[in-house]
Amino acid sequence: NEIKLFCPATVANLSCGFDVLGLCLEGIGDEMIIRKSNEKGIRITKITGADLPLETEKNVAGVAGMALLNHLNLEFGFEIEIHKKIKAGSGIGSSAASAAGIVVGINELLGNPLLRKELIPFAMEGEFLASVSYHADNVAPAILGGFTLVRSYDPLEVIKIKSPKDLFVTIIHPHIEVKTSEARSILPKEIPLKTAITQWGNLGGLISGLYTEDYELIGRSLQDVVAEPYRKNLIPEFDNVKKVALENGALGCGISGSGPSIYTLNKSYKTAENVANEIKKVYSKTKIGFDVYTSKIC
Ligand code: HSE
Repeated sequence: NEIKLFCPATVANLSCGFDVLGLCLEGIGDEMIIRKSNEKGIRITKITGADLPLETEKNVAGVAGMALLNHLNLEFGFEIEIHKKIKAGSGIGSSAASAAGIVVGINELLGNPLLRKELIPFAMEGEFLASVSYHADNVAPAILGGFTLVRSYDPLEVIKIKSPKDLFVTIIHPHIEVKTSEARSILPKEIPLKTAITQWGNLGGLISGLYTEDYELIGRSLQDVVAEPYRKNLIPEFDNVKKVALENGALGCGISGSGPSIYTLNKSYKTAENVANEIKKVYSKTKIGFDVYTSKIC
């Protein structure tokens, strides 16, 4: 009647996969405890690690959970405790972790009446509260694990992508604020054909590289010519971090989601740790505080 869950952080989007491609991090995430209760609905009893509303309808997890409960039409409800470890606004899917966690947890407690994939639309309801846009690029990998691709939004079709075993992620989170709404508003509404060709060539190359475990191809394909040229201006030292990461063996480097976190993909844990140590030095020379993580893909 009770479940304790790890709710993973996610990198989405991932460079050339703007709004469609994401990955799930094994080593960074929140904790959630969900208990069955005789009272209908969702009651959030405790939140630690962040100043977030306890009111169900104002909380991402509350909204996602209620969307699922309304669908299942249950005669009972749930109490939840959320222990946030992922900082809000860091660009590694803090709200998605809560939205995904509650729907996965409730489904598990009920003996999995729904498939994992079928939970995505309910988690998206929670994401909508946080970002006022229906996007699945974070909740999909948080629910399914690994890499995921949103092939289509209407109708929703999410594909799980194979993940090579020796791929590790480094994240650096500079403590500055980048609002997703601003990071979206600075993007051009239309892109030239030449830019689109480069982007979809890279996305195809990346997916192929993931399936064939061709690390060089993964590295060459991790380019974003659509959003990064504009968004990088919101992240101080972005170009330096990227240069240092690539010089120290990262396969590729880009903005995690809408930022401000920056991610690198690396072949082997050792390289990922080395890259983490080197990119740290970039922000150490500034007044900007930061966190660094190295993680497996879950
Ligand atoms: N795909 C979204 C963006 C993710 O890049 O704007 C934001 O979390």
